Amino acid sequence: MRTQVGNLLIEPKLKARVRWAQHNLMQPLRETGTFDLVLLRNVPIYFDLPTKQRVLDALSHSIAPGGYLVISHVESLQGLRTDLQLVRPSVLRKPRR
Ligand SMILES: C[S@@+](CC[C@H](N)C(=O)[O-])C[C@H]1O[C@@H](n2cnc3c(N)ncnc32)[C@H](O)[C@@H]1O
Repeated sequence: MRTQVGNLLIEPKLKARVRWAQHNLMQPLRETGTFDLVLLRNVPIYFDLPTKQRVLDALSHSIAPGGYLVISHVESLQGLRTDLQLVRPSVLRKPRR
C-alpha cells in the first residue's frame, strides 16, 4: 500500500513479545532483564565523554552474553572503555562467557 512506503512492518509474533517503555538513559536501568539487542542510533552524540561511559557501562551490563549494541555510523567509542567487541563498524557484541 502506498501509505506504507518507508515504514517497516514487525512480524506479529515478534511484536507480541515486545514490551514498549520509555527510559531516560541518565537514570539507572530498572529491572528489565537482559537485552539481546540494543539500538542506540544517534543518541550518545548528545552526551559528554563521562556520561557516554556511564551509559555504555550500564547498557553493556544489561546486554546478554552474545547480544549486540548498535550505534550509528557517525558515532565512535573512542576514549571509552568497554568489554563489548567491535564486530563491524557501529556493531558491538558482548562476548559469550
Ligand atoms: C537524533 S535522535 C535519534 C533518533 C533515532 N534513534 C534515530 O536514529 O533516528 C536522538 C534521540 O535521543 C533521545 N535522547 C536524548 N537524550 C536521551 C536520554 N537521556 N535518554 C533517552 N533518550 C534520549 C532523544 O529523545 C531522541 O529521540
